[in-house]
Amino acid sequence: MIILGIESSCDDTSAAILIGNEIRANIIAGQAVHEGFGGVVPELASRAHQENIIPVVQTALQTAQISISDLDAIAFTQGPGLMGSLTVGTSFAKALALALKIPLVGVHHMKAHILAHFISDASDTTPSFPFLCLTVSGGHTQIVQVNDALDMQVIGSTIDDAAGEAFDKAAKMLGLPYPGGPLIDQLAPLGNPNAFEFAKPQIAGLDFSFSGLKTSILYALQAAEKQEPDFRQIHLHDLCASIQKSIVQILIAKLEKAVKQTRIQNVAIAGGVSANSELRKRLLEKREVGWKVSIPKMSYCTDNAAMIAMAGSFYLNAGHQVGQESAADPRLKW
Ligand code: KG4
Ligand code: ZN
Repeated sequence: MIILGIESSCDDTSAAILIGNEIRANIIAGQAVHEGFGGVVPELASRAHQENIIPVVQTALQTAQISISDLDAIAFTQGPGLMGSLTVGTSFAKALALALKIPLVGVHHMKAHILAHFISDASDTTPSFPFLCLTVSGGHTQIVQVNDALDMQVIGSTIDDAAGEAFDKAAKMLGLPYPGGPLIDQLAPLGNPNAFEFAKPQIAGLDFSFSGLKTSILYALQAAEKQEPDFRQIHLHDLCASIQKSIVQILIAKLEKAVKQTRIQNVAIAGGVSANSELRKRLLEKREVGWKVSIPKMSYCTDNAAMIAMAGSFYLNAGHQVGQESAADPRLKW
């Protein structure tokens, strides 16, 4: 079975070719057009997807050394995401499936982040069911109990900002460009993670909150700058290290609680923030206390079409398909 995956939920246009559970191509076109705006501009994102989608698919076919007539099915991101962005991928996938007379599958973006773990080269430890997945991206932060590829239950989620958003907003306060998460990760090893202490959220159960941390960072910066006007620049590395430590501590503390509560020690991470080196390190340490940890390789952490094709393969095997009446859904339900 040869599946073409299409991802266009936010600001990356991606196409991938999956054969069995092996990825033969995973092409991603980013969008530099948003630099300088401090975030993704939806209208500019849809325009860039329009320009990129055909060259990206053509490159994926060439890289996989197959022709378009070899495709057996098409999987596309149906939601959640930005309406204009999703519509480009959805319309393209529908048109191509119609022309080639092959099955079409609509995929949930966050579920696909989780199912990326089943790509043959995703990690050295493929998770076994049931497992817990900390799904952390720019728009979502959840702990998902994955009983089976098609049976997932959200057992905790953020009540305000997502973890990626917390990284990006903190980075913005430090004067770093968007998206600041990867930059904080790069600069943190140069600083002292214990230099600054920020407020810790007190949220019951398995839910997360990052808004208190954000306010605490802002107040700390404002107070320090009264004494030392160039505080942010002078202490940039210590601030990055301390902020990263705080965010990762919040994530790990809830995971520990979830493991205790569910008695499931198979733990995976997924989504853009799972690329964070501190999170990966702290999670790997948990192997010492008996957790079976699955960490995807970097190219499957941030948005990519390989995960969409992989999720599509699970859905197709279970007999799930969508018709030409299907539409992009920015708030696609879990
Ligand atoms: O999954 P993703 O690529 O897109 C969404 O579906 O949102 O996640 C993007 C988010 C951004 O907030 C970005 O700053 C964050 O993931 N991110 C990171 C790192 N790489 C990406 N955050 C911290 N450390 C990283 N290395
Ligand atoms: Zn994502």
